[in-house]
Amino acid sequence: MNILFCTSEAWPLIKTGGLADVSGSLPKALHALGEDVRLVLPAYPEVLERCAGLDSLGEFSLSGAPVPVEILAGHLPGSEVVLYLVNSPPHFRRPGNPYLREDGRDWPDNAQRFALFARAIVELAQGRAGTGDWQPDLVHCNDWQTGLVPALLSQEDKRPATLFSIHNLSYQGLFPAATFQQLLLPKALWSMHALEFHNQLSFIKGGTACADRLSTVSPTYAQEIQRSKFGCGLEGLLQYRAADLTGILNGIDTDTWNPASDPFIEQRYDVHTLQLKAVNKTALQREYGLRQDKRPLLLGHIGRLVEQKGVDLILDMLDKLLDHPVQLVILGSGDLALENRLREAAACYPQQMAVHIGYDEGLAHRIEAGADCLLMPSRYEPCGLNQLYSLAYGT
Ligand code: ADP
Ligand code: GLC
Repeated sequence: MNILFCTSEAWPLIKTGGLADVSGSLPKALHALGEDVRLVLPAYPEVLERCAGLDSLGEFSLSGAPVPVEILAGHLPGSEVVLYLVNSPPHFRRPGNPYLREDGRDWPDNAQRFALFARAIVELAQGRAGTGDWQPDLVHCNDWQTGLVPALLSQEDKRPATLFSIHNLSYQGLFPAATFQQLLLPKALWSMHALEFHNQLSFIKGGTACADRLSTVSPTYAQEIQRSKFGCGLEGLLQYRAADLTGILNGIDTDTWNPASDPFIEQRYDVHTLQLKAVNKTALQREYGLRQDKRPLLLGHIGRLVEQKGVDLILDMLDKLLDHPVQLVILGSGDLALENRLREAAACYPQQMAVHIGYDEGLAHRIEAGADCLLMPSRYEPCGLNQLYSLAYGT
């Protein structure tokens, strides 16, 4: 099958969370099965820096875009997967987090940015973007940033099939109704059966209402999002679409997350040499400035500092937890108030607790390898990859 895999982040090019891990590994796995899967991403500066030898497939104009959009072609590093980049400097030539400004707030033009991305994907999907005679049979979209794609494609006479995967329903891409006009979207899409959600513009509804098939990242989450507790107001629509919705558990990339070959960790080990894992525990204690001692139970937590991940639940029970012979190391970034609470807590318990605020891919691997246990008190988790990595690392 020819598959166009559409995503706003993919490891090792740009990553904020698990979507990037899945977007970097699933296309590689499908390619290994013989599918012609091609990835499309926005051309953020980090992505351009990390991709060598890109070719321009040419430019085209899109409605509402100030300058022509260019499609660049290359490969996902470390793979044979073809990569297309949507190059529109006014929208994507900004360093840092792909969705947020430095102060942690959304880029004010996120609707314009990801509407442009969607329109460019439609051109690729319809064979109008310089990809020669290559056209997808299936367009696979992921999360709200690509939600407009199935909606826009539904307006085309002849089009590929569409699949929309929900990685996290609580990020919806909601904008004021007026944004719908500004984006010059087809009028037929302003309907409760398409993009309208309580008189707002909802990008994720474009995917959930208009795609031919829906999937999400675990069988349990497929059930949970059909009920009000986790349905984020879309439970009715998801019940209506239940026959088209499948929950498929995420896999992990065992080339990247493998203690037998992991380049980020001090001591490699596998299921036959599990005793060597202790070397990584000592190294992690050293890296965090904690006492190097085999005896205390070393707990690790890795995650975006947002309500979903429940790091506040750890903070609330810290007195009780640290009353036991345990050490706790945390890696995370996000909400500024949570960052500060974590720093303060670590200052109160310098013998037992240490935090690293920031994003550090290598340290995430070293925590998986060095901790005895992973602490993951998520309030909800569509799938969660860190606990799967822990299983692979004997943690
Ligand atoms: P989510 O996608 O909701 O953030 P997942 O568990 O699916 O949760 O995936 C999180 C991914 O992001 C993992 O690869 C994890 O190691 C990584 N990650 C999260 N926070 C950080 C951080 N501060 N530094 C490095 N990696 C991080
Ligand atoms: C989302 C979810 C997480 C899932 C990841 C990859 O970010 O929060 O649970 O593992 O997507 O599908």
